[in-house]
Amino acid sequence: MTETRTLPDFLADRIKNATPSPTLAVSDKARQLKAQGIDVIDLGGGDPDFITPEHIRQAAENAMNAGDTHYVATPGTPAFRAAIANKLRVDNGLNYDPNGEILVTPGGKAALFEAAMALVEPGVDVLVVEPAWVSYAPQIELAGGTAVPVVTSPDTNWVVTEDLLESSITSNARAILINSPNNPTGHVMSRDELEAVARFAVRHDLLVWTDEMYEKIIYDGREHISIATLDGMRERTLTFNGLSKAYAMTGWRLGYVAGPREIISKIGTVHSHAVTCATAFAQAGGVAALEGPQDAIADMVRAWDRRRMLMSTGISAINGLRLAPAEGAFYAFVDGRETGLDSTSLAARILDEAHVAVVPGAAFGASGEGHLRLSFATSDDALSQTIDRLTNLFGAR
Ligand SMILES: Cc1ncc(COP(=O)(O)O)c(C=O)c1O
Repeated sequence: MTETRTLPDFLADRIKNATPSPTLAVSDKARQLKAQGIDVIDLGGGDPDFITPEHIRQAAENAMNAGDTHYVATPGTPAFRAAIANKLRVDNGLNYDPNGEILVTPGGKAALFEAAMALVEPGVDVLVVEPAWVSYAPQIELAGGTAVPVVTSPDTNWVVTEDLLESSITSNARAILINSPNNPTGHVMSRDELEAVARFAVRHDLLVWTDEMYEKIIYDGREHISIATLDGMRERTLTFNGLSKAYAMTGWRLGYVAGPREIISKIGTVHSHAVTCATAFAQAGGVAALEGPQDAIADMVRAWDRRRMLMSTGISAINGLRLAPAEGAFYAFVDGRETGLDSTSLAARILDEAHVAVVPGAAFGASGEGHLRLSFATSDDALSQTIDRLTNLFGAR
């Protein structure tokens, strides 16, 4: 008789060493402490502190009441795909055929994961510009591949250069993943940086995956440029985006990927087996979001702009901490290197002693070490209290 398996023996190798999302873990821990009656300020997550605008909610409600409660076309409803194609044309200068070059998914996260399943396998490397969002590497690894970091530095404002790219290339590299505005650093890639990535991608014959989730959340008049608009890039770029951040629609789970037909069709095959389609009435809300008034975005960005300045002034006045104003997105990526503590110990100390939940920079790759990510997509009051608590903990400069 064969030996009886223990429960861990049933696990697939690819999941044995994988860990759950560290940012979600921080929020879970904050929730547990709150349940014990501790007054925790949770700056761990990446969720806008606004409710989805009313006209969007109304459109979804109307759709549901009209019976839009069934499966819909696997790649997304024709109306939503048409709205996305129009958005990509008007906002980004990109022309994609809604029939075959755009796939709607339940959140941008699913689009990225489905792409990994379609494009990555053992022996395939994907270069990931770091610090990077916590799910890229695990997704690539779950698909059997290897995420190879392209390590940017706080001392050069997280800028990507051709030298940096060249020093990161591997013989198995098949794609490079960029994210601008960046989560967690907020860095917005300039045209020069994007051109460097484009030349590099052509030279090494790589696909470019560009995650443009935070494109609308950008400050000081900076410009968001879609790399697929650069010469020779359209045929080798997958553009990922979604409605979560710009329209405060995180709970709706609406994202999409646009790219060359042959690839979108195969990502669509993964999608059809994994999820069938994104939620029908949510997509009706998505149409209203993209086609309706856009002023809610400007209102939210104005609030986040104020908060990023509040954070950078407040945090930089605290012993051991420094913070340049974010260029985009809604995260303060605080430089705590002067404290001499590693980011995990620093975050733990802040949670235990100041009762503020923050994400250690190491969660975003080794290049994030020494830093902390604090979401400022929360109330001015919570941020002021955070600054007070951190000042009490570390002292004023
Ligand atoms: C950089 C980045 N990409 C993608 C996502 C996924 O967003 P969603 O799945 O809600 O569209 C997030 C969410 O935090 C993110 O920060």
